Amino acid sequence: MADPSSTTIALTGIKPTGSPTLGNYLGMIRPALALTERHRALYFIADYHALTTVHDGAELRRLTHELAATWLAVGLDPRTALLYRQSDVPEIFEVAWILSCFAPKGLLNRAHAYKAIVEANEEAGRASDHGVSMGLFNYPVLMAADILSFDADVVPVGLDQKQHVEIARDIADAVNATYGEVLRRPEPLVDQTTQTIPGTDGRKMSKSYGNTLPLFADAKSLTKQVMRIVTDSRRPEEPKDPEGDTLFRLYRAVAPEPDVEALRQRYLAGGVGYGEVKEDLAARLVAEFEAPRERYEELAADRARVDAILADGARRARELATPVLARLRRAVGTV
Ligand code: TRP
Repeated sequence: MADPSSTTIALTGIKPTGSPTLGNYLGMIRPALALTERHRALYFIADYHALTTVHDGAELRRLTHELAATWLAVGLDPRTALLYRQSDVPEIFEVAWILSCFAPKGLLNRAHAYKAIVEANEEAGRASDHGVSMGLFNYPVLMAADILSFDADVVPVGLDQKQHVEIARDIADAVNATYGEVLRRPEPLVDQTTQTIPGTDGRKMSKSYGNTLPLFADAKSLTKQVMRIVTDSRRPEEPKDPEGDTLFRLYRAVAPEPDVEALRQRYLAGGVGYGEVKEDLAARLVAEFEAPRERYEELAADRARVDAILADGARRARELATPVLARLRRAVGTV
């Protein structure tokens, strides 16, 4: 049971840029839900971060609703954890401006996501900032505001987001160096399983690689997609390398430890075929996500209910952000 009186705050956001995948759930949502036992949890939908790439209003609205329904379907309890939409909390954007006045541009030039685009542009012989909006460049500042507006202590993220949390901490340090201890310094919390969720082709499961497994597909289509997971060509009787096998790594992320150990032994000894493991994995995924999928479908069809939960989350989130913004404004001298 979550402890609402606990004072440490865990905060994280997900961008609504595509339908939720098994990788999002195992790597990020599941570990974040586990934290709600020990922390006050603030989980939000980073719709204004998604606006850096999603430029279709109906689509952004749909993806936002889908992501909210996903959090609720997989077990976020809105009475104990806050679930809100970033854009519903205007305090964050005021904090973002203040922080931008303390964020060295050189620091943002070095942010991985921006650097990768610049490098790709230069390689292709385009202007370095081709296709880069100020929103994209300032992405880490808005993320710092998401975090610092709530005095977050821990920020559960994937490894790819760790640098962004460190940037938030650097910006907090810059503010504190000027005005004294105004902002709390957050810690990134990187769950080890996050980096080990492979997609169907063995690379990290990622929408940008097109190798994802959907979280809420029906049994038939999920099974079909599991059957397509790429393996080596070892025959059933041959010994196999569990760590090097995509199927095994996915199995390990969903099966209980004794079953994982049993399968590991069978891999090493030989005598298990990949087809059998695929069937077992597909059956487990179908069983594990059956109840959440039903809840998801109910919520996805009930916009009013999801909107009411988001509105309540936003109201409570604003109550938390308001004193932090006031503290910051007093420090900088705008009140
Ligand atoms: N940038 C994160 C991602 O792409 C999403 C995000 C936005 C976030 N604001 C945040 C994560 C604040 C943690 C804390 O996954």
